[in-house]
Amino acid sequence: MNRILVTGGTGYIGSHTVVELQNSGYEVVIVDNLSNSSTDVLDGIASITGKKPAFEKVDCRDKQALADVFKKYPDVKAIIHFAASKAVGESVEKPLLYYGNNLGSVLNILELMGEQNVGNLVFSSSCTVYGQPDILPVTEDAPVKPATSPYGNTKQIAEEIIRDAVYADNRLKCIALRYFNPVGAHPSAAIGELPNGVPNNLIPFVTQTAIGIRECLRVFGDDYDTPDGSAIRDYIWVVDLAKAHVIAVERLLGNKNRKGVEFFNLGTGKGLSVLEILNVFEKTAGVKVNRKIVARREGDVEKVWADPAFANKELGWKAETSTEEMLATAWAWEKALAAKRK
Ligand code: UD1
Repeated sequence: MNRILVTGGTGYIGSHTVVELQNSGYEVVIVDNLSNSSTDVLDGIASITGKKPAFEKVDCRDKQALADVFKKYPDVKAIIHFAASKAVGESVEKPLLYYGNNLGSVLNILELMGEQNVGNLVFSSSCTVYGQPDILPVTEDAPVKPATSPYGNTKQIAEEIIRDAVYADNRLKCIALRYFNPVGAHPSAAIGELPNGVPNNLIPFVTQTAIGIRECLRVFGDDYDTPDGSAIRDYIWVVDLAKAHVIAVERLLGNKNRKGVEFFNLGTGKGLSVLEILNVFEKTAGVKVNRKIVARREGDVEKVWADPAFANKELGWKAETSTEEMLATAWAWEKALAAKRK
């Protein structure tokens, strides 16, 4: 049996990936410390797939506890490592927490892969490694720019650690997926993005404002060098993103001779401004989003969108879901949460 160990599997992208893995016939064991998620997510996954994944409440910084998971599940063939702290602003205030969490876990996982002889790793990286790219759309060959936050730095350093570890031990191989901006939820509205407290990211803030939890969305900057002055990102549906992980796992398991680390951009190739996203959301959801323009947010880049051609060709994967469809799932999820609160 092929079992996949998914760290951070009760989190946002992790939970959607577990659904796609189970739907593709994989057994899963989730490792999560529940610092930013809850075991309710397991029920959400079970309601979609008909199967509750195995779950171990373990912090990836605890190597002994992680080693015990490997012992308990000797059929683990690959690891997808999502578990990480991801709030850019918080990382500036608590850099040591971010370096400790995000890099400590990578070190433990790589060490255990060597010790337990599990050679396959899919790593959650980010387009943040490109900073503000000189050329758009950005390809995987674009230079890695100095990070603008400790969070971004952890992704860059983690990529380097993985590169060195894989070079030194030819039993290891890795696919690092550089996500652009994942949004939306599963079409069932049984799982979705569930930020703790005030959301940092755009879409949960938009849906929470639309439903009345937040008073007003702040648009960070309208003086960028973009057609409408607001910043541009490449928003990708979380389910499309999740599916790429299954393909990455299959690529690792399917070719025993594959070596080294491969990097892939996971984006749509289309950039949308904050104001454009707001317009699409308002049309799709049929609600107005109270907003005001405020100053730029520190550390934000002006514009970034992917050249996904390499992933399209090599992985045979494409993110084709329209902006309307992805935002509709985000809205359905927010409404489902509201119904649960009643
Ligand atoms: C950033 C990182 C990404 C990281 C993610 C984690 C970059 C390019 N991207 O995404 O790698 O994984 O954080 O959280 O560094 N916005 C508003 N009002 C809001 C919230 C956001 O106007 O209340 C704007 C932002 O200024 C930005 C866009 O919406 O232009 C998207 O913001 P967000 O969802 O936070 O993602 P990024 O900052 O792009």
